[in-house]
Amino acid sequence: MSYICDMEKIIILDFGSQVTQVIGRRVRELNVYCEIHPFNKFPFEDSLKKTIPSDIKGVIFSGSPFSVRDENSPKVNIGDYVGKVPVLGICYGAQFIAQNGGGMVEASQTREYGRAELTVADENEPIFRDVPKTSQVWMSHGDSITRLPEGAELIASTSSVRNAAYKIASKYIYAFQFHPEVFHTQYGGTMLRNFVKGICGCKGDWTTESFIEATVSELKEKLGEDEVILGLSGGVDSSVAAVLLNKAIGSRLHCIFVDNGLLRKNEFEDVLEQYKDMGLNVVGVRAADRFLEALSGISDPEGKRKAIGKTFIDVFDSEAQKITGAKWLAQGTIYPDVIESNSVKGPSATIKSHHNVGGLPEKMNLKIVEPLRSLFKDEVRRTGRALGIKRELISRHPFPGPGLGIRVLGEVTKEKLDILKEADHIFISNLRTYMTELPPASNGFAAEESEVVINGKKMRPLYDSIWQAGTILLPVRSVGVMGDERTYEYTIALRAVVSNDGMTADWVHIPYEFLAKVSNEIINKVKGVNRVCYDISSKPPATIEWE
Ligand code: XMP
Repeated sequence: MSYICDMEKIIILDFGSQVTQVIGRRVRELNVYCEIHPFNKFPFEDSLKKTIPSDIKGVIFSGSPFSVRDENSPKVNIGDYVGKVPVLGICYGAQFIAQNGGGMVEASQTREYGRAELTVADENEPIFRDVPKTSQVWMSHGDSITRLPEGAELIASTSSVRNAAYKIASKYIYAFQFHPEVFHTQYGGTMLRNFVKGICGCKGDWTTESFIEATVSELKEKLGEDEVILGLSGGVDSSVAAVLLNKAIGSRLHCIFVDNGLLRKNEFEDVLEQYKDMGLNVVGVRAADRFLEALSGISDPEGKRKAIGKTFIDVFDSEAQKITGAKWLAQGTIYPDVIESNSVKGPSATIKSHHNVGGLPEKMNLKIVEPLRSLFKDEVRRTGRALGIKRELISRHPFPGPGLGIRVLGEVTKEKLDILKEADHIFISNLRTYMTELPPASNGFAAEESEVVINGKKMRPLYDSIWQAGTILLPVRSVGVMGDERTYEYTIALRAVVSNDGMTADWVHIPYEFLAKVSNEIINKVKGVNRVCYDISSKPPATIEWE
């Protein structure tokens, strides 16, 4: 029986809301483990008897883009949950419970979206413990509950929504029309704490340390004396997975780090050195020429991704063949990937084929082990830090698998790659040394460690205020003048964005002074470039990468 099986947990049933993952994050912040499952799959083993295991302490019904009044709206058999464990309904969830219990849900006159002031009926109500009589909440709904379900008691209202929160005490049901999980609901975290810890009685003992301890002992048991192979990318997920596995099985973990020639300047050497310092059993494979050859003559972005992915699989596979008796392939899959591939809507339409090495497990005929598959990204970072991985590695910007291959627009050549590497190096090194007051980005993990006080102001490297940054080599040349000579050379675009998960992104308002310095340095030092631009497009409608 695994640790996660035994541990107290909350189940979140996803009815398709954009913010379901945020509910999960908020519950985890209370040190309570939770899982998100699609509404239409009864998530427990004993699905025939529909019993709920004793480690499930509560269930949360999420919001949804649907109206409960639609014929095709998502539905569950409410009797599978209600009365068996405490249930919290949020927005659609609250309406669904109301409609199923004899209440009424009708279209609102106008869609209510934004901040509202909630007034609590009784300050002694357990779900509102430590919540003031009035506070700000966030509403986003087109329907309203116009009649409460049988046995329900109204517990809070706003000026425009009378039935903003209700409970059915005899069935341990709580229901909110507003969204407690979003930042704009001032006491949302307190309300969720009251549900999870007060009403469901969770102790809150899911911590980074307990996760590491339990995962290491689970891995020891699962892997026994087997040999395991893992592909390192230089990124956060594969690095943390490697260190965790290394703690469990030591040198029986064989890491392979491939130099595809599409990494940043000096990155292969630097990161390989760091991996060795971390005590990992790692082989570096130099294969830049093979990748360049595979890319030759291809200018279509998806074609380039496929060529890079296929070459990676070939190189990795032939290196892995040298490790005799390996039974497992370890991967740095994290929880959002798991949710995504098992989601209500199905895996979201692939705009770009991101899973570059999707075919690897099938080809290698190995069993898969994924030690991080229950963690959100920030939890992966915290785990990495607790395992002693350096902050610089943990708070690195995301970097795409095909690397600079999709940042040299059009056909990739050695000449263009070398130009891009130099320009990129100048941009990134300057981001690391330029100090700013801009707030830390969501991946600027433990940004306070890099903060310094200058003239009474808290400042940090601009790098830590950016979610992702990079340079792009445009496939056009333009005229310039250098000294007395006319030039006809390439343009470099700089890109820097803030984001939470890469799904949406805003360009960063980088100080002009910084842009001037970087532009000067690139044009003066990088042969082949005579123009630098800054990309001021948000996603959507643009994407972060240009290809
Ligand atoms: P886009 O360009 O789609 O990028 O806005 C969103 C995030 O995904 C990264 N990205 C990739 N990552 N393989 C990867 O591993 C890919 O083919 C790929 N394409 C984009 C991108 O860097 C950004 O963080």
